[in-house]
Amino acid sequence: MRAPFRVALFGLGNVGGALARRLVEDADRITMAAGRPIALEGIAVAHPEGRRAPAPILPAAQLLAQPQFDAIVEVMGGLEPASTYIRSALQAGRQVITANKQLVAAQGPRLACLGPLRFEASVASAIPIVETLADTLSADRIGSITGILNGTTNSILAAMGDGASYADALADAQRRGLAEADPSADVDAHDPAAKLAILVMLAFRRRIDPSQIERVGIRDVGPEQIENGRQRGFVIKLIAAATTHDDTRIQADVRPRLVPIDAPMARVDGAMNAIAVDAEYAGSLIFEGPGAGPDAAASAVLADLIRAAKDAPASAGSLLATLADASPATVVPLAATIPYPAAS
Ligand code: HSE
Repeated sequence: MRAPFRVALFGLGNVGGALARRLVEDADRITMAAGRPIALEGIAVAHPEGRRAPAPILPAAQLLAQPQFDAIVEVMGGLEPASTYIRSALQAGRQVITANKQLVAAQGPRLACLGPLRFEASVASAIPIVETLADTLSADRIGSITGILNGTTNSILAAMGDGASYADALADAQRRGLAEADPSADVDAHDPAAKLAILVMLAFRRRIDPSQIERVGIRDVGPEQIENGRQRGFVIKLIAAATTHDDTRIQADVRPRLVPIDAPMARVDGAMNAIAVDAEYAGSLIFEGPGAGPDAAASAVLADLIRAAKDAPASAGSLLATLADASPATVVPLAATIPYPAAS
């Protein structure tokens, strides 16, 4: 058997904790899948005082300076210091696995030029969409992507539909480890806009910045609107969608939309996500699954770790690297009626 694949973990919050548990409790199965043990040998956390962990807790700079690591896993979130740590690890020849959608959306193309960058967990957690777009569908031509890309807001809208207040529904999502540290990232749609930017770059092979995507969050969706929609046969969902018909511009936005009650997207409940991909040759594909939550995100991080340990190509990272020097594409919002009528 090959030597252990040695890993340092940056961040021990909900996702980091779930990943560390999985690496310990599922070690035999993971070794079998990777063809070698995956050894968690160091952890960096922002506030180490009194923390217990399954590997030594060390300062981030010390972990980055130690030469034995094959890879680092970044699950801290936020642009800094995550960006600095990732850049430093890639420049030192390590593989990097991240769940950080804000960072990948904004800096992924540049970072991926430095070395193998893997980010399956950055979009829709457990749904294997990132490598699917970059690898499985690499020779296809994708015309549109329509998705529910944020579990927190989907869960809030569903709970409000069942009579819960916005505040209680948000508190419940936070308790379940779905929401971002600052839930404005969820409810104001920064999070799904970043995820959509990543999907657009992978699917359309054009560089964009997440700030180019118009976003409307769910703060203004009230119980009356939800009830009114229901009476007319619609469910309100926060829809992230993008389409391109030619090489000149991309239409993309994130906003609450009225989804007909019998459409597959309407049935995507709670913290689930769904992504419909319209591909010229593969046809219409729908991916659905847990889009948020510690175990779901850890599952995707682990998939990347196993690929890294097996020296599988980092297809999505390589694709982003090809976009690093491209000028950003023009991005305009979608029409108010497409793919579904706007709800606000
Ligand atoms: N806050 C995110 C969500 C976590 O609710 O979808 C998963 O990316």
